[in-house]
Amino acid sequence: MLSAAAVLITFLAGSNARTFTVFNNCPFTIWPAVFTDLNVGTAVPSVATGWEAAAFSTTTFSVPNNWKAGRIWGRRNCNFSNGAGANACLDGGCNGGLLCDPHTGTGVPPATLAEWTLGTNGQPDFYDVSMVDGYNLPMRISNSVGCPVADCPVDLGPNCPSSLKGPFDSTGFPVGCKSACVANLDGNPSNSPNCCSGSHNTPATCPSSGVAFYSYFKSNCPNAYAYPYDDNTALKTCASSLNANYTLTFCASP
Ligand SMILES: *[C@@H]1O[C@H](CO)[C@@H](O)[C@H](O)[C@H]1NC(C)=O
Ligand SMILES: *[C@@H]1O[C@H](CO)[C@@H](O)[C@H](O)[C@H]1NC(C)=O
Repeated sequence: MLSAAAVLITFLAGSNARTFTVFNNCPFTIWPAVFTDLNVGTAVPSVATGWEAAAFSTTTFSVPNNWKAGRIWGRRNCNFSNGAGANACLDGGCNGGLLCDPHTGTGVPPATLAEWTLGTNGQPDFYDVSMVDGYNLPMRISNSVGCPVADCPVDLGPNCPSSLKGPFDSTGFPVGCKSACVANLDGNPSNSPNCCSGSHNTPATCPSSGVAFYSYFKSNCPNAYAYPYDDNTALKTCASSLNANYTLTFCASP
């Protein structure tokens, strides 16, 4: 017979939280990071805001059902021994160092992002993979209930257009591919067709055809955001009543 405490724990786990798994399928160490926009909600995952993940390692944690505006990404080629904060990694670094600052610890682009807003009050879960801040690692969001997959399962570094390619590791290998916005190709980030900003800040005034190198990202990763208004193809939903558990796999293959 279950004790009252066991019943309570089972009830809490089943009704108030999801299980998230972060699997580093890359053959090298990465440093995953988690950020919650605390302006939107207060619920946070029960995991540190950053950790070191050895090649082929798995980290599992619980996430409250009302997690809003959350993101997870990977950092590459980090060395925190100098306490170098956001610049301690070649890409994806955050204010704070190994532990990202809860208020300002978003990733330094280029960084592929996995994003979630879990559904409450009958709303579905929303989730996506985004290359709006550029690309730094392939990833896939899968789930335990048969809802759609969101992914960018391709290494976009080696074939990245030269004006977007990089940063580079010590061997000269590209560990990222910037978006045209992040690369500031048009020199005017506050009013840019590449950034969908200023006079280009609506779907009508920011067509994907006006975003430089959009097709490089979108043809390789049709299931991910290649610019801010890719909702139709990149934004995935899952009925929150299914209580999906999610797995984020870095270096997922096609
Ligand atoms: C990290 O940086 C420190 C200080 O600059 C250096 O001594 C060390 O060799 C670096 N570690 C790696 C693995 O590169
Ligand atoms: C989610 O994971 C938990 C813990 O592993 C498990 O008990 C639960 O059945 C899973 N739920 C779904 C919907 O997959």
